[in-house]
Amino acid sequence: MTDDLATGPYRSVTVSFAQRSGRLKDRQQRAWDSLAPRFVIDVPRQVSRTSVDPGFVLDAAEVFGRDAPLVVEVGTGQGEAITEAAAADEGRNYLGLEVYRPGMAQTLQRMRRLGLENVRLVQVDAASALRTLLPAGTVDELWTFFPDPWHKSRHTKRRLVTQGFAETVARVLADDAAWRLATDWEEYATQIRRVLEASPDLVVTPDTSRFAGRTLTSFERKGLERGRVIHDVTAVRSPRGDRRTAEAAGPA
Ligand SMILES: C[S@@+](CC[C@H](N)C(=O)[O-])C[C@H]1O[C@@H](n2cnc3c(N)ncnc32)[C@H](O)[C@@H]1O
Repeated sequence: MTDDLATGPYRSVTVSFAQRSGRLKDRQQRAWDSLAPRFVIDVPRQVSRTSVDPGFVLDAAEVFGRDAPLVVEVGTGQGEAITEAAAADEGRNYLGLEVYRPGMAQTLQRMRRLGLENVRLVQVDAASALRTLLPAGTVDELWTFFPDPWHKSRHTKRRLVTQGFAETVARVLADDAAWRLATDWEEYATQIRRVLEASPDLVVTPDTSRFAGRTLTSFERKGLERGRVIHDVTAVRSPRGDRRTAEAAGPA
Protein backbone atom coordinates (compact mmCIF):
# COMPACT_ATOMS: atom_id res chain seq x y z
CA MET A 1 0.00 0.00 0.00
CA THR A 2 1.27 3.46 -0.84
CA ASP A 3 1.97 5.56 2.24
CA ASP A 4 0.48 9.05 2.53
CA LEU A 5 2.12 11.65 0.38
CA ALA A 6 1.40 15.34 0.41
CA THR A 7 0.82 15.24 -3.29
CA GLY A 8 0.35 12.42 -5.70
CA PRO A 9 -1.26 11.47 -8.93
CA TYR A 10 -4.21 9.88 -7.14
CA ARG A 11 -5.18 12.96 -5.15
CA SER A 12 -7.97 14.95 -6.74
CA VAL A 13 -8.65 17.20 -3.75
CA THR A 14 -6.51 19.53 -1.67
CA VAL A 15 -4.32 17.99 1.02
CA SER A 16 -5.14 20.16 4.01
CA PHE A 17 -2.99 18.40 6.59
CA ALA A 18 0.74 18.35 7.27
CA GLN A 19 2.73 15.15 7.20
CA ARG A 20 3.58 14.37 10.82
CA SER A 21 4.86 11.32 12.58
CA GLY A 22 1.93 9.13 13.51
CA ARG A 23 3.98 7.52 16.27
CA LEU A 24 2.07 6.94 19.48
CA LYS A 25 3.51 7.40 22.97
CA ASP A 26 3.30 4.31 25.18
CA ARG A 27 0.09 5.39 26.96
CA GLN A 28 -1.51 6.40 23.67
CA GLN A 29 -0.55 3.03 22.17
CA ARG A 30 -2.16 1.20 25.09
CA ALA A 31 -5.34 3.30 24.73
CA TRP A 32 -5.34 2.62 20.99
CA ASP A 33 -4.87 -1.13 21.43
CA SER A 34 -7.71 -1.46 23.91
CA LEU A 35 -10.22 1.06 22.51
CA ALA A 36 -9.65 1.34 18.76
CA PRO A 37 -11.15 -2.08 17.93
CA ARG A 38 -14.47 -0.86 19.37
CA PHE A 39 -14.49 2.87 18.59
CA VAL A 40 -12.30 3.41 15.50
CA ILE A 41 -14.05 2.26 12.35
CA ASP A 42 -11.82 0.19 10.14
CA VAL A 43 -12.80 1.36 6.66
CA PRO A 44 -11.54 -0.22 3.42
CA ARG A 45 -8.78 1.90 1.91
CA GLN A 46 -8.19 2.92 -1.67
CA VAL A 47 -4.60 4.10 -2.04
CA SER A 48 -3.30 5.48 1.24
CA ARG A 49 -3.83 5.09 4.99
CA THR A 50 -6.19 8.08 5.05
CA SER A 51 -8.14 7.28 1.91
CA VAL A 52 -11.37 5.32 1.78
CA ASP A 53 -12.58 3.02 -0.95
CA PRO A 54 -15.21 5.13 -2.79
CA GLY A 55 -17.41 2.04 -3.03
CA PHE A 56 -17.74 1.88 0.75
CA VAL A 57 -20.67 3.61 2.46
CA LEU A 58 -20.74 3.71 6.25
CA ASP A 59 -23.89 2.43 7.92
CA ALA A 60 -24.10 4.75 10.96
CA ALA A 61 -26.89 2.81 12.65
CA GLU A 62 -24.77 -0.33 12.45
CA VAL A 63 -21.51 1.16 13.73
CA PHE A 64 -23.20 3.06 16.58
CA GLY A 65 -25.55 0.19 17.36
CA ARG A 66 -28.55 2.51 17.21
CA ASP A 67 -30.40 4.90 14.91
CA ALA A 68 -29.92 8.50 16.16
CA PRO A 69 -29.19 11.93 14.67
CA LEU A 70 -25.59 12.13 13.48
CA VAL A 71 -23.11 14.94 14.26
CA VAL A 72 -19.83 14.87 12.30
CA GLU A 73 -16.69 16.73 13.32
CA VAL A 74 -13.99 17.17 10.68
CA GLY A 75 -10.52 17.51 12.23
CA THR A 76 -11.17 16.42 15.81
CA GLY A 77 -7.58 17.16 16.90
CA GLN A 78 -7.18 15.96 20.49
CA GLY A 79 -10.92 15.35 20.76
CA GLU A 80 -11.74 18.07 23.28
CA ALA A 81 -14.83 19.38 21.45
CA ILE A 82 -16.34 16.11 20.27
CA THR A 83 -16.03 14.33 23.62
CA GLU A 84 -17.43 17.21 25.71
CA ALA A 85 -20.34 17.61 23.31
CA ALA A 86 -21.06 13.88 23.14
CA ALA A 87 -21.06 13.64 26.93
CA ALA A 88 -23.61 16.46 27.17
CA ASP A 89 -25.78 15.12 24.36
CA GLU A 90 -26.17 11.37 24.71
CA GLY A 91 -29.16 11.29 22.35
CA ARG A 92 -27.02 11.91 19.24
CA ASN A 93 -24.26 9.90 17.57
CA TYR A 94 -20.91 11.69 17.11
CA LEU A 95 -18.54 10.76 14.28
CA GLY A 96 -15.04 12.23 14.29
CA LEU A 97 -12.95 12.35 11.11
CA GLU A 98 -9.23 12.95 11.68
CA VAL A 99 -5.99 12.09 9.93
CA TYR A 100 -3.62 12.32 12.89
CA ARG A 101 -3.47 9.11 14.89
CA PRO A 102 -1.88 10.51 18.11
CA GLY A 103 -4.78 13.00 18.30
CA MET A 104 -7.22 10.14 17.83
CA ALA A 105 -5.51 8.19 20.62
CA GLN A 106 -5.94 11.22 22.91
CA THR A 107 -9.61 11.34 21.90
CA LEU A 108 -9.97 7.68 22.86
CA GLN A 109 -8.39 8.41 26.25
CA ARG A 110 -10.91 11.23 26.82
CA MET A 111 -13.76 8.95 25.74
CA ARG A 112 -12.68 6.39 28.30
CA ARG A 113 -12.45 9.01 31.08
CA LEU A 114 -15.97 10.23 30.25
CA GLY A 115 -17.37 6.72 29.69
CA LEU A 116 -18.70 7.64 26.24
CA GLU A 117 -20.57 5.17 24.05
CA ASN A 118 -21.85 7.60 21.39
CA VAL A 119 -18.57 8.52 19.64
CA ARG A 120 -16.85 6.75 16.74
CA LEU A 121 -13.74 7.84 14.89
CA VAL A 122 -12.42 7.22 11.39
CA GLN A 123 -8.85 7.95 10.32
CA VAL A 124 -9.48 9.61 6.97
CA ASP A 125 -8.80 12.66 4.86
CA ALA A 126 -12.29 14.08 5.26
CA ALA A 127 -12.07 16.25 2.14
CA SER A 128 -11.83 13.14 0.04
CA ALA A 129 -13.71 10.64 2.17
CA LEU A 130 -16.86 12.69 2.72
CA ARG A 131 -17.56 12.62 -1.00
CA THR A 132 -18.58 8.97 -0.65
CA LEU A 133 -18.32 7.75 2.96
CA LEU A 134 -21.80 8.85 4.10
CA PRO A 135 -25.12 8.70 2.29
CA ALA A 136 -26.46 12.07 1.05
CA GLY A 137 -28.63 14.04 3.46
CA THR A 138 -27.84 11.98 6.57
CA VAL A 139 -25.89 14.43 8.77
CA ASP A 140 -27.75 16.44 11.41
CA GLU A 141 -24.88 18.87 12.05
CA LEU A 142 -21.28 19.14 10.82
CA TRP A 143 -18.42 20.95 12.57
CA THR A 144 -15.12 22.27 11.27
CA PHE A 145 -13.48 24.04 14.19
CA PHE A 146 -10.11 25.67 13.61
CA PRO A 147 -9.12 24.07 10.32
CA ASP A 148 -5.36 24.52 9.79
CA PRO A 149 -5.02 28.17 8.65
CA TRP A 150 -2.15 27.62 6.18
CA HIS A 151 -1.49 31.33 6.54
CA LYS A 152 1.62 31.73 4.37
CA SER A 153 0.61 32.91 0.91
CA ARG A 154 2.30 29.98 -0.80
CA HIS A 155 0.26 27.59 1.39
CA THR A 156 -3.26 29.04 1.26
CA LYS A 157 -4.15 26.64 -1.54
CA ARG A 158 -3.93 23.84 1.05
CA ARG A 159 -6.87 25.15 3.09
CA LEU A 160 -9.64 22.66 3.73
CA VAL A 161 -12.61 24.97 3.16
CA THR A 162 -12.83 25.35 -0.60
CA GLN A 163 -15.77 25.48 -2.98
CA GLY A 164 -15.32 21.76 -3.63
CA PHE A 165 -15.38 20.96 0.08
CA ALA A 166 -18.51 23.08 0.55
CA GLU A 167 -20.26 20.98 -2.09
CA THR A 168 -19.04 17.83 -0.37
CA VAL A 169 -20.42 19.00 2.97
CA ALA A 170 -23.71 20.18 1.44
CA ARG A 171 -24.19 16.70 -0.03
CA VAL A 172 -24.08 14.95 3.35
CA LEU A 173 -26.09 17.52 5.33
CA ALA A 174 -29.78 16.87 5.89
CA ASP A 175 -32.18 19.63 4.81
CA ASP A 176 -31.90 22.60 7.22
CA ALA A 177 -28.89 21.04 8.97
CA ALA A 178 -26.12 23.36 10.14
CA TRP A 179 -22.44 23.46 9.19
CA ARG A 180 -20.61 25.24 12.01
CA LEU A 181 -17.10 26.57 11.55
CA ALA A 182 -14.66 28.58 13.61
CA THR A 183 -11.26 30.05 12.88
CA ASP A 184 -8.85 32.42 14.58
CA TRP A 185 -7.38 33.55 11.28
CA GLU A 186 -9.20 36.65 10.03
CA GLU A 187 -8.40 36.21 6.36
CA TYR A 188 -9.45 32.53 6.44
CA ALA A 189 -12.74 33.65 8.01
CA THR A 190 -13.27 35.92 5.00
CA GLN A 191 -12.48 33.02 2.65
CA ILE A 192 -14.88 30.74 4.54
CA ARG A 193 -17.73 33.25 4.31
CA ARG A 194 -17.06 33.85 0.61
CA VAL A 195 -17.00 30.11 -0.14
CA LEU A 196 -20.19 29.40 1.82
CA GLU A 197 -22.05 32.34 0.29
CA ALA A 198 -21.12 31.13 -3.19
CA SER A 199 -22.54 27.66 -2.53
CA PRO A 200 -25.94 27.16 -4.18
CA ASP A 201 -26.96 24.72 -1.44
CA LEU A 202 -25.96 26.65 1.69
CA VAL A 203 -27.27 29.79 3.34
CA VAL A 204 -24.93 31.64 5.73
CA THR A 205 -26.77 32.70 8.87
CA PRO A 206 -26.33 36.24 10.22
CA ASP A 207 -25.47 34.83 13.67
CA THR A 208 -21.72 35.19 14.32
CA SER A 209 -21.84 34.61 18.08
CA ARG A 210 -19.84 31.81 19.62
CA PHE A 211 -21.63 28.49 19.19
CA ALA A 212 -22.65 27.56 22.75
CA GLY A 213 -21.81 23.88 22.19
CA ARG A 214 -18.23 24.60 21.16
CA THR A 215 -15.69 23.64 23.84
CA LEU A 216 -12.62 25.82 24.30
CA THR A 217 -9.82 23.66 22.90
CA SER A 218 -6.12 24.06 23.55
CA PHE A 219 -5.73 25.22 19.94
CA GLU A 220 -8.26 28.01 20.48
CA ARG A 221 -6.70 28.92 23.84
CA LYS A 222 -3.28 29.38 22.22
CA GLY A 223 -4.83 31.64 19.56
CA LEU A 224 -6.51 33.75 22.24
CA GLU A 225 -3.23 34.04 24.16
CA ARG A 226 -1.67 35.44 20.99
CA GLY A 227 -4.43 38.04 20.82
CA ARG A 228 -6.35 36.47 17.93
CA VAL A 229 -10.05 37.08 17.41
CA ILE A 230 -12.25 34.03 16.99
CA HIS A 231 -14.69 34.01 14.08
CA ASP A 232 -17.70 31.69 14.16
CA VAL A 233 -19.55 31.07 10.89
CA THR A 234 -22.67 28.96 10.43
CA ALA A 235 -24.38 27.92 7.21
CA VAL A 236 -27.60 25.98 6.83
CA ARG A 237 -28.30 23.40 4.13
CA SER A 238 -31.12 24.61 1.84
CA PRO A 239 -34.00 22.14 1.60
CA ARG A 240 -33.49 19.99 -1.50
CA GLY A 241 -37.11 20.38 -2.58
CA ASP A 242 -36.65 24.13 -3.01
CA ARG A 243 -34.09 23.73 -5.77
CA ARG A 244 -35.98 20.98 -7.54
CA THR A 245 -39.17 23.03 -7.36
CA ALA A 246 -37.38 26.10 -8.70
CA GLU A 247 -35.83 24.09 -11.54
CA ALA A 248 -39.14 22.44 -12.40
CA ALA A 249 -40.86 25.83 -12.46
CA GLY A 250 -38.33 27.04 -15.05
CA PRO A 251 -37.38 30.66 -15.68
CA ALA A 252 -39.71 33.29 -14.24
C1 LIG B 1 -5.63 23.15 13.86
S1 LIG B 1 -6.19 21.59 14.32
C2 LIG B 1 -7.71 21.93 15.21
C3 LIG B 1 -8.19 20.74 15.97
C4 LIG B 1 -9.53 20.92 16.71
N1 LIG B 1 -10.64 21.05 15.79
C5 LIG B 1 -9.48 22.06 17.69
O1 LIG B 1 -10.31 22.98 17.56
O2 LIG B 1 -8.65 22.03 18.59
C6 LIG B 1 -6.80 20.95 12.77
C7 LIG B 1 -6.99 19.45 12.79
O3 LIG B 1 -7.59 19.05 11.56
C8 LIG B 1 -6.96 17.86 11.12
N2 LIG B 1 -7.14 17.80 9.66
C9 LIG B 1 -6.61 18.63 8.74
N3 LIG B 1 -7.03 18.31 7.51
C10 LIG B 1 -7.85 17.23 7.66
C11 LIG B 1 -8.59 16.43 6.74
N4 LIG B 1 -8.56 16.67 5.42
N5 LIG B 1 -9.32 15.41 7.22
C12 LIG B 1 -9.35 15.15 8.55
N6 LIG B 1 -8.67 15.87 9.48
C13 LIG B 1 -7.93 16.90 9.03
C14 LIG B 1 -5.52 17.99 11.57
O4 LIG B 1 -4.85 16.76 11.65
C15 LIG B 1 -5.70 18.66 12.93
O5 LIG B 1 -5.89 17.70 13.95
